[in-house]
Amino acid sequence: MSVRDETSRSAAERSSAAGDLSRVDASSAIASRPDVGAASASAPKSSPPIRGGSVAAALAPWLAPQERFDALRATALASGGARFCDLAYANAWGGPLPEVREVLRRAATSTGDLDLQYTPYGGAVVPRRFAAQALARRTGLPFKHDHVLLTPGAMSALTLLIRALPAGGNVVIPVPTWLDHPLYVATDGREPRLVPLREEDFGLDLEALARAIDEDTRALILTCPGNPTGRLFDADELRALAELLDRAPSAPLLISDECHRDYVRDPFVSPVTSYARTAVVYSYGKRFLTQGQRLGYAAISPRHPEAAALVADLRRLARAHGHGTPTALMQQALPELKALAPDVASVLARKERTRARLEAAGLVVRGDATMFLYVKVDDDWAATEALAKRGVLVLPAAIFHHRGWIRLTASAREDMLDRGLEHVIAVARGDA
Ligand SMILES: Cc1ncc(COP(=O)(O)O)c(C=O)c1O
Repeated sequence: MSVRDETSRSAAERSSAAGDLSRVDASSAIASRPDVGAASASAPKSSPPIRGGSVAAALAPWLAPQERFDALRATALASGGARFCDLAYANAWGGPLPEVREVLRRAATSTGDLDLQYTPYGGAVVPRRFAAQALARRTGLPFKHDHVLLTPGAMSALTLLIRALPAGGNVVIPVPTWLDHPLYVATDGREPRLVPLREEDFGLDLEALARAIDEDTRALILTCPGNPTGRLFDADELRALAELLDRAPSAPLLISDECHRDYVRDPFVSPVTSYARTAVVYSYGKRFLTQGQRLGYAAISPRHPEAAALVADLRRLARAHGHGTPTALMQQALPELKALAPDVASVLARKERTRARLEAAGLVVRGDATMFLYVKVDDDWAATEALAKRGVLVLPAAIFHHRGWIRLTASAREDMLDRGLEHVIAVARGDA
């Protein structure tokens, strides 16, 4: 992907977030209607649309860090020129593996009658079955294709799950977390309730979570493994969280965002194995480093007491909100793609080399899982700005609802990592 494409991607993401805003009212209305999608004798009354300006003001605090960062990106591009180093986004600068491209080429040139045509909301049965089988193998739970809704990436799975929750209330989110979790919750007219992870090891602070969860808690969103922290949650921790949620008066949904679960050395345990009301969110974009190709899913635990109704609602919401389906091309390619091993080993090896260099320079670094390293700095915005002036792009903790760290990605090209690291070390140590 060229720098220019990537820049316009950020702009497109911003405008799609803004485009969502006018639907806040309608989405809450639909989420609150138990008969959504059912035939009705009289047409439903429409509610007045919320105008862009007022909603933008309500969402401004959630949008601001990303918008500030986008301006820095322009600085990094201008200052870096040919020496620009992108250590910020998870984009793979070298592109996906050649065998991944080959599968996509074959899918694009196959000549079945309905190839590249519409597929049902929620996706076609065959790729959904592949996703379900992989989840069943991984978790030991009897996932079937009808527990899975294929979506255009994890972003879409997350927004649909949030919209499918009973109306109003709050959603508890341990932070730091992936940037847009609170944005999606706020866009849907709910309260994002941020609860810090333990600063010393980024583990769950169960006491703080117990204080935050109340009778209006509709869901808890946990990024497993953590992004940006790279923290894996172990079985004991997840069991303790499940006990907490089981005691909660509102029977919250646990949304387990598992976009990075392939990038682990230690065994990955999904919260779906300990808590029945769990929805797993996943992105094939991370697995195959094809993030622009928008394929992900929401899968509802077979143990969830209302699994069938929830998947049916998600499918209706995919239609009602125009999320549609992932492209037919990606759905056709999935069975073949699933047979390929993702390029985890080389990404993790690059990450370990990077981590060793940072630690040898005396820096505090976290990130056992994921493709990311989280590096302690005095002031994350100041460090990000100083690096942008040197043409090196990293993400400040503020993007992840945290402060005092920067995130680097090992999906960057080797030469970018090498060059960028010298600057990261100098800036983080204050040598500059
Ligand atoms: C934790 C997490 N959730 C969701 C997403 C969005 O994934 P997708 O590109 O599949 O929509 C990302 C992307 O970086 C992520 O890191």
